[in-house]
Amino acid sequence: MQRFAEFFSGIGLVREAIEPLGWSCVFANDIAPDKARMYADRFGHDHLVVDDINNLTVDDLPNDLDLLTASFPCIDLSLAGNRRGLDGEHSGTIWPFLELTADYVAKWTAPKALLLENVTGFVTSHGGRDLAEVCGRISDLGYRIDLAVVDAKWFTPQSRPRLFLIALREDLATHAFPPTGEVTRLRNTAIRRFQGEHRSLPLVELPLPEPPHTSPKRLIDILDDIPANHESWWAEEQVRTLAMHDRHASRVGALLLGTRDGVATMYRRVRQGRTVGELRSDSIAGCLRTANGGSSVQFLVDCRSGRPRIRPLTGREYARLQGAGDFPITVGRRQAQSGFGDAVCVPAVKWLVNHAFGFLLQDLPQREPVQTRFANDPLDAVAAGS
Ligand SMILES: C[S@@+](CC[C@H](N)C(=O)[O-])C[C@H]1O[C@@H](n2cnc3c(N)ncnc32)[C@H](O)[C@@H]1O
Repeated sequence: MQRFAEFFSGIGLVREAIEPLGWSCVFANDIAPDKARMYADRFGHDHLVVDDINNLTVDDLPNDLDLLTASFPCIDLSLAGNRRGLDGEHSGTIWPFLELTADYVAKWTAPKALLLENVTGFVTSHGGRDLAEVCGRISDLGYRIDLAVVDAKWFTPQSRPRLFLIALREDLATHAFPPTGEVTRLRNTAIRRFQGEHRSLPLVELPLPEPPHTSPKRLIDILDDIPANHESWWAEEQVRTLAMHDRHASRVGALLLGTRDGVATMYRRVRQGRTVGELRSDSIAGCLRTANGGSSVQFLVDCRSGRPRIRPLTGREYARLQGAGDFPITVGRRQAQSGFGDAVCVPAVKWLVNHAFGFLLQDLPQREPVQTRFANDPLDAVAAGS
């Protein structure tokens, strides 16, 4: 067993993903009592500290950690947010995490690996300066860093691309190689550009395999069977008077003709002062969000009966879209939507940790660190904007 600490633990879906791989959670922290309740109902209270990360010190942590994970708040980094980046009050909680990590390395020994997760906008936030600052701090602690985007839709029927910063202690990164510069699903143009523009950072690439192309399940496969007279279905009048732009209204028309199994998901958005319904057109759910405001709840548009019916997705459907269908739900729908909407996608994290850190679960001989750049570096082309 390797031991890990889970920061920004939320309801615990990082733990849900990686404990079955052989990682044992020995510390978890989150500020939100409602999420902590869901966490504790699944995993118990042991190791869970419900507090502001700013209040933690190195003495609060166990002294033999192999991995630290941090899926820190995305509000200030996401398109829908305010774009304050890591200066923002929420996403800026990465700084106390990094300070705690530095204190830990100074007092004990550097954990073998770190794993950070956030929205893909992290790569370009403040023109790349935010990510560069984070990478700089991590490299000062003796790590090599890989960057990869993993999308939940490769595992479950939900679009949820997320950036993972994968840091390996340099004595353990002997199999890592300089970034190839090739744009792939895992390492997109923004990552390649960032790598090309930050040559002084110890950026590497781990030999990750090709991820799956599509989820084995479709949206229709994860839906609950909610009786037609259930109160969660909108009244006919409410459905009829929902405003939609033509493109979205024609998607409803297509559903009525049987495309995409007759079902799609929808968000309500305010466009030019008017609330409108917007449907996805690609057979999967949109990215789940934490359900704080009315517009962040995701709805099902169900045309299988020959007329459009609308209801919010259930907490269990949210859980399934995060690949956590069996997770106990001991809270009401809004709280479940909030907890699962803000969480990570379990099979996506499992896939990544298995392939990036799986070798740490075996005893491998330690070798000399690799150089991080080759002559005739292919990243030259990316940095030059080609
Ligand atoms: C993206 S969510 C993490 C979700 C989690 N990985 C999961 O699977 O449920 C970010 C989390 O950071 C927590 N958070 C926000 N500010 C915090 C702070 N100052 N200290 C500790 N946790 C904080 C939020 O409560 C939220 O659960």
